Amino acid sequence: MRHFLSLSDAGGDAIAAMLADALERKQARAGWPKGRADADAPLAGRVLAMIFEKNSTRTRVSFDMAIRQLGGQSIVMEAGQMQLGRGETVADTARVLSGYVDAIMIRTDDHAKLDEMAAHASVPVINGLTDESHPCQIMADLLTIVESGRQLPGLKVAWLGDGNNVLASIVEAAALLHFDVVAACPQGFQPGEEAIVRASGRARVVADPREAVADADVVVTDTWISMGQAQAETKLRAMMPYQVDAALMAAAKPGAAFLHCLPAHRGEEVTPEVIDGPQSLIWQEAENRLHAQKSVLRWCFGQIG
Ligand code: CP
Ligand code: NVA
Repeated sequence: MRHFLSLSDAGGDAIAAMLADALERKQARAGWPKGRADADAPLAGRVLAMIFEKNSTRTRVSFDMAIRQLGGQSIVMEAGQMQLGRGETVADTARVLSGYVDAIMIRTDDHAKLDEMAAHASVPVINGLTDESHPCQIMADLLTIVESGRQLPGLKVAWLGDGNNVLASIVEAAALLHFDVVAACPQGFQPGEEAIVRASGRARVVADPREAVADADVVVTDTWISMGQAQAETKLRAMMPYQVDAALMAAAKPGAAFLHCLPAHRGEEVTPEVIDGPQSLIWQEAENRLHAQKSVLRWCFGQIG
């Protein structure tokens, strides 16, 4: 059984195969009504249950549409409306849902809850974001980079701002797909040392935003305050020099792509002229959540890799 808890669960070769599959499927259904199933409906008869302990727009709708386009169906649940929300254990929830559905996606806070779900489920479990990582987002980011005509091996990705869950998954991807990440983060908001060590020399952390973007092919940022974090003035002040503005984009490689997982806070981590400017690929990136996750679902069911 295949769980997609982190990018390493699949590995570099399977991720490359998933990206190729996603591109092919995206092209094959271009212009179709969104609700029409793919011609081969490879997950017909399968049901995906989704549990949300945190807000979501993209993950919720893209997974729902992904399973529909693959011919399957979904059940979307807010944890607060489940018995999970009043103390039923994750383990018991995993066992019960495994009797009803064919796969479970969960968005939660503590990564240990995701691990517990996977340990007790007898169907594939997918990480829809935890405080530690966001692998499905990075599948979409990688797809967007490849679709833009860039090759992953040897690419330089610059990260600006908070050393958060999204950065952790980019760093993991760097080691698996042989590209480099330079993250510029303020003191006190850097990613954990273990994540950098696990990247086997593919990732480093610097203090200077200009050093991060120098020669970068792709510039990425994310909200300074992630879900579940307190809105702290001190953090916002520390982050200000890491804002991606036109001058910082101009210091990257000419024509560098700008990515942001969204939701964005214009005027904080990025200026409107960058996120809404010609180098920004954010709408394609958001749409690619759908296409990338269709391939993640197919991988979970043993249809890829
Ligand atoms: N990028 C992302 O995961 O968006 P949502 O929080 O809307 O799902
Ligand atoms: N780092 C953000 C990503 C949101 C998709 C968060 O965890 O809130």
